[in-house]
Amino acid sequence: MNFIGFCGRKFKIFVEIFYLSEAFLRVIEMGGFIPDEVVETVRLRADIIGVISQYVVLKKKGKYHFGPCPFHNEKEPSFAVMPEKQIFHCFGCGVGGDVFRFLMLKENMSFPEAVRKLAEQNGVAVPVGVNSIDREEVKREDRAYEINKKAKDFYRHVLQTHDMANEARQYLAERGFSREVLELFQVGFALPAWNGLLTSLSKHGFKPKELAEVGLAATGEGSGRFYDRFRNRIMFPIWDDRGRVVGFGGRVLDETQPKYLNTSETPYFSKGRVLYGLHLAKLPVREEGFVIVMEGYLDVITACQFGVTNAVASLGTSLTREQVRLLMRHTKDIVVAFDADSAGVAATLRGLALLMELGCRVRVVDIPDGKDPDQFIRRQGVQAWNSLVENAFSLVEYTLKKAIGQKEIRTVAEKVKIAQQVLPSLAGLQSEVEKEEGIKVLAKNLSLSWDTVAGELRRFEDLHRKKWPNPDNIAKRKHNILSREDQPDARDRAERGILRLVLEDPALGKVISEERGEILFHRPFHRKVFNLCLETAGSRVYNPVMIFNHLASDEQELLSGLLMEEIPGGDRPQILRGLVGAIDRIEIKERKEQLLREISSAEKIGDQEQVTQLLRDLRQAISLRTP
Ligand code: GTP
Ligand code: MN
Repeated sequence: MNFIGFCGRKFKIFVEIFYLSEAFLRVIEMGGFIPDEVVETVRLRADIIGVISQYVVLKKKGKYHFGPCPFHNEKEPSFAVMPEKQIFHCFGCGVGGDVFRFLMLKENMSFPEAVRKLAEQNGVAVPVGVNSIDREEVKREDRAYEINKKAKDFYRHVLQTHDMANEARQYLAERGFSREVLELFQVGFALPAWNGLLTSLSKHGFKPKELAEVGLAATGEGSGRFYDRFRNRIMFPIWDDRGRVVGFGGRVLDETQPKYLNTSETPYFSKGRVLYGLHLAKLPVREEGFVIVMEGYLDVITACQFGVTNAVASLGTSLTREQVRLLMRHTKDIVVAFDADSAGVAATLRGLALLMELGCRVRVVDIPDGKDPDQFIRRQGVQAWNSLVENAFSLVEYTLKKAIGQKEIRTVAEKVKIAQQVLPSLAGLQSEVEKEEGIKVLAKNLSLSWDTVAGELRRFEDLHRKKWPNPDNIAKRKHNILSREDQPDARDRAERGILRLVLEDPALGKVISEERGEILFHRPFHRKVFNLCLETAGSRVYNPVMIFNHLASDEQELLSGLLMEEIPGGDRPQILRGLVGAIDRIEIKERKEQLLREISSAEKIGDQEQVTQLLRDLRQAISLRTP
């Protein structure tokens, strides 16, 4: 039997196993609904400090209890528990949530499992009840998966049978993809027509609006008519780790931009929360003991075709915390094989720092000649690839390699400069053994003595040793993980301020909701928390921690961070008015800037009528400032 046949056979078994396990999970979930009241009773009895203290040594400091974070590697404690709110949050890596989430992460449990465990320990009986709200949510979710699955089948069928898919079939054949591997990854094709999917799915009883809700259709600006989001693209279904289709990536047949289009971000799909191919790679990853993280769909597919089955793709961007945590459920040993040129070495290094902070062992494949894994495997063969992976660089080696580059190092100044670039990754290493090894590598490459390098490392570590944490200071430090995009701007800060007050006192939220509604918030996450807060406030005992039950895990981290923020003293309604006023001013400013841009482009094309109209709008916008 040839290699490819072997790979296909092996995967048939995997596919069967994951369908079995998915059905299994469903059964558990169906019987597993736990009524809200019971969840809250368990939460109340299971003191969060007591639970977390079983894993972390905590020290009380004011309202917080601090300890070293059990989810990332650190010496100075930036992990805080706030008993008053019953939450935990790490100011270093951003992980956070309620007591259930802590157990879910630490013990790799599902939500019902965590609740049941704590219920048992605290003598709370858990009935096998049915919670109607969750039921509805699950129904909606199931429908979303159903739509995506049907869409996948439709695209697949089109690729296999439709006349207009000739070019797509030819493209895939020319790039060398086997029938088996295309079947395994269920690759399909979206017709050029504007409503192919809409029409097909309407026959199955799915409405255009439902397709829009899962990011597969959109409406025209003026007409309000629905059209397919994906047209004339090769379609790659994206699965979550449980094997449910959650979205798609669609590739054009040539090199026009954008090369790829993804399902739009919805509650059911977010690029940063999935890893392409993980549903298939799970078992091979456990067998091999490590995972290879690549950048592209086609890298993973090619790798699989050639028998490298423990690969997943990050979908182009650098790894998110959520993705790393997903991986860490299966292995901590991570080999990164990003394209040599694309994201740039600096970006790769940032991603690697995150992996290390979260406690992974990281190695880097440096693919020669600026190729990506797909090209390399096809041209050099899978054996050459496997030996690249076997000889992957440690982080210290990789950083050193990139710092030295093509240069020849002779002077002491040059050596110092390079050492300084490498010391941070050396200092970040988990174990003393690895550090020792890293020091050796650095010493050898720079022709320095072991003692000199070790001394430099000590100096570096002393310099960067942090003082006993104060939440404000740590919060400022967290830039070392958050990217620029995550930095809040003025509007964001105002929205957070408002939410913080509303979370404390939902009555304030009622006022806003009557006057302004959720549109006051730009960020979808803020809207969601705002609405959940108002809903939760309707229950008998309000506690913001109950909102965690309705959030995805990365959202829980955002919320725990928010709840850790201090509320400024003073008259709360007045502070609230101030913050709403700030948002108004920002909106007027944005509107003005927008109008000015439109005016200048109208002037450019000489549309005088439009200019006059826009000027009128501008005057009106400015006059809004003084009510
Ligand atoms: P080929 O270029 O056909 O070999 O595909 P590839 O999967 O190797 O893509 P590439 O290495 O160029 O990019 C890596 C990944 O980044 C892709 O698989 C996509 O997930 C993502 N990506 C690349 N270009 C775009 C784009 O224009 N838009 C979006 N949304 N994602 C992109
Ligand atoms: Mn490629």
